[in-house]
Parts: sequence; structure tokens; C-alpha cells
Amino acid sequence: MKIVFPVAGVGTRFLPATKEVPKEILPVIDKPLIQYAVEEAVASGLNNFVFITAPGKEALERYFSPNAELDEFLRRHRKTHLLAGVKSFYKKKFTYIRQEQALGFGHAIALAQPAIGNEAFAISLPDDLILSETPVMAQMLAVYEKYRSPVIAFMEVPPADVPRYGIAAGPFLEERVFAIEKLVEKPTPASAPSRHAVIGRYIMTPDIFPLLKKEKKGAGAEIQLTDAVVELMQRRQVLGYFFEGKRFDAGTTLGYIETLVHVALQRDDTRDFTRRLLRGLAHDEKL
Ligand code: UTP
Repeated sequence: MKIVFPVAGVGTRFLPATKEVPKEILPVIDKPLIQYAVEEAVASGLNNFVFITAPGKEALERYFSPNAELDEFLRRHRKTHLLAGVKSFYKKKFTYIRQEQALGFGHAIALAQPAIGNEAFAISLPDDLILSETPVMAQMLAVYEKYRSPVIAFMEVPPADVPRYGIAAGPFLEERVFAIEKLVEKPTPASAPSRHAVIGRYIMTPDIFPLLKKEKKGAGAEIQLTDAVVELMQRRQVLGYFFEGKRFDAGTTLGYIETLVHVALQRDDTRDFTRRLLRGLAHDEKL
């Protein structure tokens, strides 16, 4: 199965950094967000990547390709291990498709059709960094294999956060899996059918493409995937899946700070320092 990374967004919430640096290159400590997302895909058995990029985001295309000068420099200084993580991607299959104008997430997905053809495919938004024992895409692939229906990742959010997400409701088929009957983009807390929020991981079937093409511009004058999924739900079952793991919203400034701290607490080389730092700060706070 191929996996699409729609990474053509403008990244307004991270300006001014994203004026020149694609949001997906922003590092969580020393590893860019996009690398976390690609590593999660690889750990889930997905090795064929389709990037929807934008003019000005060429750094993303270069990131997974060899850099002969840097390789040579590191070889001379016996530091080639520093690039080992990235080098493992040099031989994998990347396809880059340009979205000339930021016409929306749904529009970006529609552009992937020539690379996808008539197969089911995965979608991953690198803003959502997910830490879990079993990689989240592997969990979702197991659900897809069982039901052969599109699968969307979900998590429960507090009422106040409901207006930031796609929200869905429907009957549970088994623990963690529900059949989506209602799906609304960014509802008010009063009108939301539940607190089940869409997270940036999907497995879609190719019958979504004609629906995306039909789509008029939705919320915020962009072509949204949600609107096409609502139409798809009238034709076939679409599933929601409550993944096992913890998701961090690295696409907002506060979420980014939270992501950094959690990853720092997970890594052997940063855990002790971060714990001491947090303890020290908590102590200062009391004074
Ligand atoms: P977001 O809504 O997070 O937009 O897009 P953004 O541009 O990345 O960030 P802000 O809101 O301006 O700060 C969700 C996903 O869809 C992609 C984004 O790159 C992100 O992965 N996207 C969005 C596109 O590929 N093309 C678009 O036209 C819009």
C-alpha cells in the first residue's frame, strides 16, 4: 500500500519560521516531524511514499535524498553515524507531486490519484505525532484488512476542543472500532454529535477520488477531505478507529512544546536532563 503525506500547507500557525522552512522540517529535538511520520509508516510496513508538496518546500524533497558533500564531510570526520537514520531512506521510493496553490487538504489528496491508481491508500499528516507501542498505521491496517472499509483514526477530546476537529458518531462494532454515521467538520460544542475527534491518519479507498473532484470549496474556502468522506459514507461503510497510543499536536505552538517535552522524556539521551529540568521548574514555581 502507498502512503500519501500532504505537506503543501502554508503553515501559518508557525510563521515566521515557516516563511522559509517547511513546517514538516521543524525538529522535535533533532529529528524533523516528517521523519517521525515516515518512520512510523516504515514500521507499519509501508515503504512507498507520495508527498504532495508546494513551491518553496523543496527542502522536503531534498531531505530524503543523498547529500554527497555532507556525507563526505562526515566520512572524513568519522561521524557517518549521525546521518544513519536518514540514510536508511535514500533507497526507498518517494514520489513528489506539486500542489501549485494551497487549495486545501482535500485538493492535495485529489492530486495523489495518478500515483495511487485504483488501490486503497494511507494518508498521514506529520503534524500529528503519535507515540505508541504498535505503530498507529499498523493498527489501522489490521482494521482495514478485517473490514475492507476506509478507516479514520480517532481520539476523544474535551468539549472545549471540539471546534478544532472533525467530529463523528456512530455505533461501535467492536472495542475501538465504530461505524461512522455522522461526521461534521469543526462543530460548536453544542451541535457536536460526540467528542470523537478525527486525527491525521486515514486509510482510504480509491472511490474517494471522484468525490473529491466534485467537491466545492468547504470550510475556510478550501477543498476538505471531510466533505468527500461524508458523501462516501452514503455509498459504503466508513470506520472510525480509536488508536492505542498518545497523539501530540505538533502543528500548534503549545502542542509543539508538549511534543518536545514528551519526546525528551522518552529518549535515553535526554530523559534525565529533562526530568531534572522539569523538577527544578516545578520547585521554582512553588517559591
Ligand atoms: P492544516 O490545516 O494543518 O494547514 O493542513 P497548514 O497549512 O499545514 O497549517 P496552518 O493551519 O496554516 O498553520 C492539514 C494538512 O494538509 C496539508 C498540510 O500540509 C497539512 O499536512 N495541506 C493543507 C495541503 O497539503 N495543501 C493545502 O492546500 C492545505
